[in-house]
Amino acid sequence: MSRPRGRHSLMILVTLLLGLAGVGQAQTMPAPPVTDIHLGVATCAGGPCHGAASTTKKNGVLQNEYLTWQVHDKHAKAYTVLEGDLGKRIAANLGIGPATEAKVCLDCHADNVPAEARGVQFKISDGVGCEACHGGGQRYLGPHVDGHITHAELVNNDGLYPTDRPVERAKLCVSCHVGDDTHVITHKIMGAGHPRMPFELQTFTQIEPAHYVIDDVYRQHKAVAKGVQFWAVGQALALERLATGIANDKHQGNGVFPELVFFDCQACHHPMSNLRWQKRASTGLGPGIPHFNDANAIMLRAIAAKVAPDLGKSLDADVHELHLALSAGEGNPGEIARRLAANAQKLGDVLAAHDFTKADMRDMLLAVAKSSTNGDTSDYAAAEQATMAFASIIYTLNTDGALDASAYAALKAGLNQCYGATEKEDNYDPVKFAAAAKSVTQAMPSW
Ligand code: HEC
Ligand code: HEC
Ligand code: HEC
Ligand code: HEC
Repeated sequence: MSRPRGRHSLMILVTLLLGLAGVGQAQTMPAPPVTDIHLGVATCAGGPCHGAASTTKKNGVLQNEYLTWQVHDKHAKAYTVLEGDLGKRIAANLGIGPATEAKVCLDCHADNVPAEARGVQFKISDGVGCEACHGGGQRYLGPHVDGHITHAELVNNDGLYPTDRPVERAKLCVSCHVGDDTHVITHKIMGAGHPRMPFELQTFTQIEPAHYVIDDVYRQHKAVAKGVQFWAVGQALALERLATGIANDKHQGNGVFPELVFFDCQACHHPMSNLRWQKRASTGLGPGIPHFNDANAIMLRAIAAKVAPDLGKSLDADVHELHLALSAGEGNPGEIARRLAANAQKLGDVLAAHDFTKADMRDMLLAVAKSSTNGDTSDYAAAEQATMAFASIIYTLNTDGALDASAYAALKAGLNQCYGATEKEDNYDPVKFAAAAKSVTQAMPSW
């Protein structure tokens, strides 16, 4: 099973043109959205609240959020897919009984809070419902209907999760899309047939059908972060999760193999007729050696070089050491991975506070493209991240008004070549990708 980018590419292009800017604000860290009672999607979807058939935005929000989620958002089907052919097959291969009753599946495919945190209208079959992202409604339901309380108060006092802020959104989404201690994905589950889970925060924010619009009313109660900020922060927090997972003894795998879910999938899973290995200074490893999935680290190198060079240097050193420790037995992987996780988290906070200028964006794009000339995108996963990086940067430059029509068209043409070069992971060709990345850099205005 695989989830090639091709399935997304058209959607990304469309949303790239039509999509909305992301939103965010770095503030105090609220509690994660699990402790309050989760009242159930039906509670949120009451007619006068978020269950309208169309929108007037009379009360400040669209009010047809339920319809958008139910009809267009894959999160509404997250439980249902467990009952489908693939869900059944995965569960049967693992011998865990029905997937709809397996905690390991429900933790990511539903709002799997403990029984005592489920309200009367709560239904596990609602999948990834409103409160899986926005937090249990127990305390904020009343005050937020009332309308006299500010958004900040709802977040600080009443358990509403700040999905608008980059660091908090990143933590929320990567908890399921990368995995963590309570959302556990393993190579065993992948081996049973689970799709690979590539993730990039800004691209996935764009792909998820928006049930909100960012307009003046929205800006009155929320700060609006740039798309590129979600991209950058998402990279930092994804790497943080991955490194924390590697550091966790619980996930050290079975027998002689480490937990392969943290490794580059295509290093092992690509046809031998398609030779693509290239020397990479950033890993320091020779041919024939599997390495951990460093696609996020490669993006962060490009980001940090521009925004936080010192932090970037120590991150790079950690990444290099971790490659040698995990794949060549030199050093203590747990210790290095913990250091890397801490540095990635620090970088996430720096990026959430940084004001990205158009020169920053240009330089980051050029730095990402450089990874196609030093062997780093000989890995499919890195090329896939680089493509989503280009998309997120070009999108933000365009919404910022930094591109004229011809520059935008030329950049999109280059981006289309990147989509083409990453469409099929099995016959991925790094040379073709490098040529596509070059056409993006050539289309980049120099200002
Ligand atoms: C760490 C979170 C996580 C865990 C654990 C997990 N999944 Fe998933 N699953 C996902 C995500 C995220 C996707 C979507 C990947 C994508 O499209 O990018 C997905 C996709 C799927 C799909 C494909 C859905 C489709 O639309 O085609 C099936 C089927 C599935 N999972 C079944 C399972 C089963 C069965 C289990 C338990 C053995 C399980 N998953 C455990 C996160 C998880
Ligand atoms: C996968 C996570 C996720 C799910 C599931 C989800 N939302 Fe959201 N929601 C978001 C994000 C991200 C935003 C945009 C950031 C923000 O404004 O906080 C948002 C924004 C909103 C807003 C704010 C609009 C505004 O103008 O301020 C409302 C209201 C809302 N969601 C209601 C719902 C309802 C009702 C459901 C269930 C039917 C739901 N959401 C399901 C992630 C989610
Ligand atoms: C509780 C776990 C969970 C959380 C939190 C979560 N997701 Fe998901 N997401 C899933 C699962 C499971 C699927 C696969 C559903 C399916 O295919 O039916 C999915 C699917 C998606 C898809 C569709 C991908 C595709 O293949 O088309 C997008 C886009 C997405 N999520 C974005 C987000 C974003 C953005 C956030 C954070 C605001 C987020 N998700 C938070 C579990 C989660
Ligand atoms: C170090 C090498 C290695 C890495 C890295 C690796 N795998 Fe595997 N994978 C294997 C081996 C070995 C098997 C078992 C093959 C067998 O059963 O004959 C396997 C089996 C699988 C299967 C089942 C194939 C089948 O024919 O049913 C899937 C799917 C899979 N892996 C996905 C992944 C994904 C997704 C990743 C990345 C997150 C990954 N693998 C990373 C070596 C690897």
